[in-house]
Formats: sequence, structure tokens, C-alpha cells
Amino acid sequence: MECSQKSQILPAHRAPGVLSDRPLIALDGEIWYCALGSLPLPDSMNVISSDSLSKTYKNGLGRRNEIKALDAVTLSIESGQIFALLGPNGAGKTTFIKLLLSIAHPSFGGATVLGRPIPNVEVRRRIGYLPENHRYPGYLSGTEVLTYFGRLARVPYDVLRERIPQLMEIVGLSARKDHKVKTYSKGMLQRLGLAQALINDPDLIFLDEPTEGVDPVGRKEIRDVLQSLSRQGKTLFLNSHILSEVELISDRLAILDRGKLVREGTVEEFTSAESQVEIRLTAEPPEAFSHAAAATLMRLEYAAHSLTAHISTPAELNRLIDLLRAYQCEIVSITKKKTTLEDSFLKLIRREVSS
Ligand SMILES: Nc1ncnc2c1ncn2[C@@H]1O[C@H](COP(=O)(O)OP(=O)(O)O)[C@@H](O)[C@H]1O
Ligand SMILES: [Mg+2]
Repeated sequence: MECSQKSQILPAHRAPGVLSDRPLIALDGEIWYCALGSLPLPDSMNVISSDSLSKTYKNGLGRRNEIKALDAVTLSIESGQIFALLGPNGAGKTTFIKLLLSIAHPSFGGATVLGRPIPNVEVRRRIGYLPENHRYPGYLSGTEVLTYFGRLARVPYDVLRERIPQLMEIVGLSARKDHKVKTYSKGMLQRLGLAQALINDPDLIFLDEPTEGVDPVGRKEIRDVLQSLSRQGKTLFLNSHILSEVELISDRLAILDRGKLVREGTVEEFTSAESQVEIRLTAEPPEAFSHAAAATLMRLEYAAHSLTAHISTPAELNRLIDLLRAYQCEIVSITKKKTTLEDSFLKLIRREVSS
């Protein structure tokens, strides 16, 4: 099977606390194991809490090449949120998830997941994971894939018989559930991956680039599923570099660049720090106005018959309107331009690069 051929068994010393004969899930080139018996886990406001979490990969001859993939990331994620970790390729997003799931181990720092310090295997019973670039054997049907992963997760057959059709319904694959996976589109494969991540009815779901390579219609369908999961009280942790998407669904987000946390906040906080207002005029403002406006320290950009002002408060906007009126400028319209998450992201990343 494609999956198991790619997989490798983690030696015990790389997976402390793991019982060796209980494979839970085989994904992304790694096999996970689950411990016997499910321990009750304490509920916590912060489902994820990392403290200076760091990872340096060592490669090459004598492991001399060091790559600092994650550099002292301290982050908390509350229960019930849709949280997105954003960043360019190679920023360390996948590494962060792998550390939280104990697929890789930190070089420094630590974290708790669902109230338990990492590494912790029992918590995986309450976690779902959609890895980046996952692949399923093409000769299996969607239902067979979910049955396989369900059994690896030790979900009893009678539960699976009920749950699989429900999940297929949720992800919109009911009509194709018995078709072979090789006939699925990229969007359908991602939705099947989503169903696979939900097979153990998890409380916390990690989704690594869930809409990668999916067309706009497929992306909307995936967003709808994620929002409906969030309404059911699940906590979702997404990795993404598709900013417009994240803006539409996330409650909070953090930007990672070259392993470092650059900024964290709500989408609103990212996009409303500074507003841009476009004021259209019947004629170009006189030069005397430009001199007077320069004294206000407001940033203005002039175009033919319009100007764009970067303002922080409504008082600033009113001062600008008073000034325009004082110079007999006739206003046609005033439009607030929203800063997109992309504007904000690019500004932050560029600042990091130039610093
Ligand atoms: N197993 C590994 N061995 C060596 N370097 C790695 C490994 N995994 C990731 N890296 C490196 O760590 C950095 C962060 O990678 P990754 O976490 O995959 O970033 P992202 O998911 O944001 O694209 C990159 O420079 C990547 O090449
Ligand atoms: Mg990645």
C-alpha cells in the first residue's frame, strides 16, 4: 500500500512514552502509536500553549548543517477557536504542528496540548490531523480509506459503520463515497482528508494547508465544513499561506517568518490598525492645501481629483475634511478602504526581511 511503503517505524528512543505495538495512524512518512486505554484528560481554556518552542534540524555529514526551523515560539490557542498560522514557505508552520503532535521533538522549549505537556501520546486520541500533501492509495474507495484510518485509530467497526456515512455527508462526498480515490479531484481528496482527520471525533483538529491546490469552488466548500466544525465547538488549527482564505474564517492568527513569531492577533487587529480613506473631489486641491496638509503630519497620496489619506482616528478624518472645506475643495465622495490581511502580512514580512 502506498501509505505504508512510504512509512517508517520510529525507533523507541525517538518517540518516548510510546507503546511499540499499537499503530494509530500512518501518515506523512511516519507511524504514530497510541497507548493502551484512554486516560481522561483535563479540559483547559488554552488547548495549545507553547513556551519558547524551538527546533533546529541537523543535516549533512556529521549533522553539521543546522537549520533553525522554529525559534522560541510562544503562543496560546483557546478552546473553540479557528486559529491560523500564516507564513511563507519554509517559515516553520509544519514544524510547529509536528512538535505539538510529537512527530518531531523540540530542541528547546516546550508546550502543552489539551492540558498535557508534550511529548504525550494519549492526547492524540482527541486530536485529528490532516497532513500537508497527504496521499491515499488510488485503488481504495473513499469509504475504504476512512475504514482503514478508523481502524488504525481503534474506532470500533460498529461506530465506523455509522460515522463514515455521516462524515461523507459533512464533507459532501456521499455520492462518490464508493468510487475509487484515483478518480477524485484535488478538492475531493482534500475533503476526504478532512473526513479522515475527523474519524476519531476529535476535539482539536490540525489542518496543514487544507486548501492547497484546490480551486475556488472547492475552497469555499472546505471553508464551509471548517466553519460548521467550529460551530460544533471543535478547535481548529490551520496552517496556510493563502491569506484571503484565512481572513474569511479565522478568529485569531499568527504570522511566522523564518521560524520566528512576527505578530499575533485577531483578523480585525491585523486589518484595522490604520485605515485608508479615499476622498474624491470635483477638482485638484490647490497647492496651498498640500502645504497646510503636510503640517498635519497626515500621510496623503494625491491622484487626479482624489486623495487617499492614511488615518488612525475619526478625529483625523474630520480635521482633513475641515481643511479641504477651508480651501474651498468640493467633496464628491468619501470611501473607507479596508486594509486587507495581505497588505498587513506583506508589510510585516518586508519589515522582517529588511531588519
Ligand atoms: N526533516 C527536516 N530536516 C531538515 N530540515 C527540515 C526538515 N523539515 C523541515 N526542514 C526545514 O525547516 C524549515 C521550516 O520548514 P517547514 O516547517 O516545513 O515550513 P513551512 O511548513 O512553513 O513551509 C525549512 O527551511 C525546511 O527546509
Ligand atoms: Mg508546511
